[in-house]
Amino acid sequence: MTTHVNAVERVNQYLDEQANLDTLRFITCGSVDDGKSTLIGRMLYEAQLIFEDQVASLQNDSKKMGTQGGEIDFALLVDGLASEREQGITIDVAYRFFSTDRRKFIVSDTPGHEQYTRNMVTGASTADVAVILIDARQGVLPQTRRHSMICSALGIKNVVIAINKMDLVEYNQETFERILDDYTKFASQLQFDEITAIPMSALKGDNIIERSSHMHWYQGPTLLGFLETVDPRLTRINQPLRFPVQWVNRPNLDFRGFSGTVESGAVEVGQSIRVLPSGATAKIKDIILFEDHLDKAEAGQAITLTLDTEIDASRGDVIVASDAPCEVADQFEINCVWMDQEPGYIGRSFWLKLGTTMVNAHITDIKHKVNINTFEHLSATQLELNDLSVVTIKTDRPIAFERYQDCAPMGALILIDRMSNQTVAAGMIAFALRRSSNVHRQQLEIDKNARRTLNGHTSRVLWFTGLSGSGKSTIANALEKELHAQGIRTYILDGDNVRHGLNSDLGFTDADRVENIRRIGEVARLMVDAGIVVLTAFISPFRAEREMVRGLFEDDEFVEIFVDTPLDVAETRDPKGLYKKARLGEIPNFTGIGSPYEAPETPDIRIDTETESVEHIIKQLLKELDLR
Ligand code: ADX
Repeated sequence: MTTHVNAVERVNQYLDEQANLDTLRFITCGSVDDGKSTLIGRMLYEAQLIFEDQVASLQNDSKKMGTQGGEIDFALLVDGLASEREQGITIDVAYRFFSTDRRKFIVSDTPGHEQYTRNMVTGASTADVAVILIDARQGVLPQTRRHSMICSALGIKNVVIAINKMDLVEYNQETFERILDDYTKFASQLQFDEITAIPMSALKGDNIIERSSHMHWYQGPTLLGFLETVDPRLTRINQPLRFPVQWVNRPNLDFRGFSGTVESGAVEVGQSIRVLPSGATAKIKDIILFEDHLDKAEAGQAITLTLDTEIDASRGDVIVASDAPCEVADQFEINCVWMDQEPGYIGRSFWLKLGTTMVNAHITDIKHKVNINTFEHLSATQLELNDLSVVTIKTDRPIAFERYQDCAPMGALILIDRMSNQTVAAGMIAFALRRSSNVHRQQLEIDKNARRTLNGHTSRVLWFTGLSGSGKSTIANALEKELHAQGIRTYILDGDNVRHGLNSDLGFTDADRVENIRRIGEVARLMVDAGIVVLTAFISPFRAEREMVRGLFEDDEFVEIFVDTPLDVAETRDPKGLYKKARLGEIPNFTGIGSPYEAPETPDIRIDTETESVEHIIKQLLKELDLR
């Protein structure tokens, strides 16, 4: 009984001590065989955080796997998953917690394989320090450069170059210095404040916690010694207030609070605030933390605020100090890491998530990609998996933000595919493009509805999509003739025609097709606004762009008409002889042959040109489209 009480006391005492320690977050990065998992395992082991039974099972495993002779294989400890063990690689971000007497640590251990850059970005985005592993036998590798650039782009200022496997190069000082020299030259172009190089052997335990007896020439800190004493990222408490609203807390009619986390600065009762982007002002009435009412809260605290006046604010808005507001803009230059197998194109629309804000956005320009070995700027028309690039983006409404380097939580964004919900890119805002805040939409007095009334009919875009030769132009023509006869103002935008003028600079790569459809969407929007019934006849092969165009219009204004003619039928018709050429290999990316057509899953109207006559189809369309 007494021993039990003592044990509980000891645990409590330990927890109390631990609660007062600060926390350092770090990330380890390295190529597949650099010994990352071994390093983390060694740190956990030497910090004596591994329970006896785990060590026993590890010894058994190590014998079984036999990758380190008779010695304990620390990588096995960290590479927890069976499949990882079999492949000998780590495949996801794992967060590990450990502590010493001086500090608590959160390590994000991210895989070294190139295809897992996505995980590394996730891990690095919250880290104070990066530990970049280099195999002493290999020196600085392309992966080392890539990881360093990502760390730099994500705002990490403090890096440790862990030159590992020194035991395999006879603990040779020149080898260490040569690698350090290479790295320093490369890193002079990055934004690090401090680079600390440590020669080590994670396997043998040299300079991890214990000072190595094999490298007397090295006077610097051990890895854990460094991590215990390094100054973490400066807190954001001294910056102006930034409080992104996570949700509006409205349990009853008498209470309306704004809940979220203070990302920077502090907030006090009575303080004047501003809600962005609207700009409405108010004073703080109350600060609530669970059941308590506070006078003041600081960066890092999750609270609920109430205001002295009823002003409109919702999820995604940011409450800021009224005398030190942040910027609001809808166009940005960002540093971008592309993380999707599917390439990124200018013009394609995504969800953009920044903190609690979610808006539509598209890439407006790819300024350049960065060659990770030479820092050379490469021109590019599309973004490939793992590309680091500088791009400009436009959101469909203004958002409150900070430059990433000033306040990471307000300047880090992700792009999400609208169909799959996958994160396709991470971006760090470099700055807002000035033009966005200086160009304002004009409110004009004669509007769409006035024009529609004058015309005596509504305006729509009838968006025909289908393979080349499916009959889009034929049907659009016949329909226009009929509508015209009925006194309806119409206009046809046709692929072959528009490509002679407005879009004469575009070809048939995926990127060009995306841009082709984006422009047509914008033109169609203007025409619908002008009160016209627009008929478009474009293959428009990609679902994402058709959905993007739909998003430009109000609910019933966009009518997707799928001209559902099978490939073999369109190919037999071959009105322009293009299928024949394509089959001969003369048109490499012809839709249906060398380039995909993504058929609409739920078109508004589907027409069948195989069994129905044009006359019958026109009747069907007129019946379904109620334009008067
Ligand atoms: S889209 O894919 O960008 O929507 P769009 O409808 O403008 O294509 O143009 C298609 C027309 O361009 C076809 O009907 C055909 O006459 C011509 N064309 C020339 N090359 C190609 C190609 N590689 N793929 C498809 N159509 C092509």
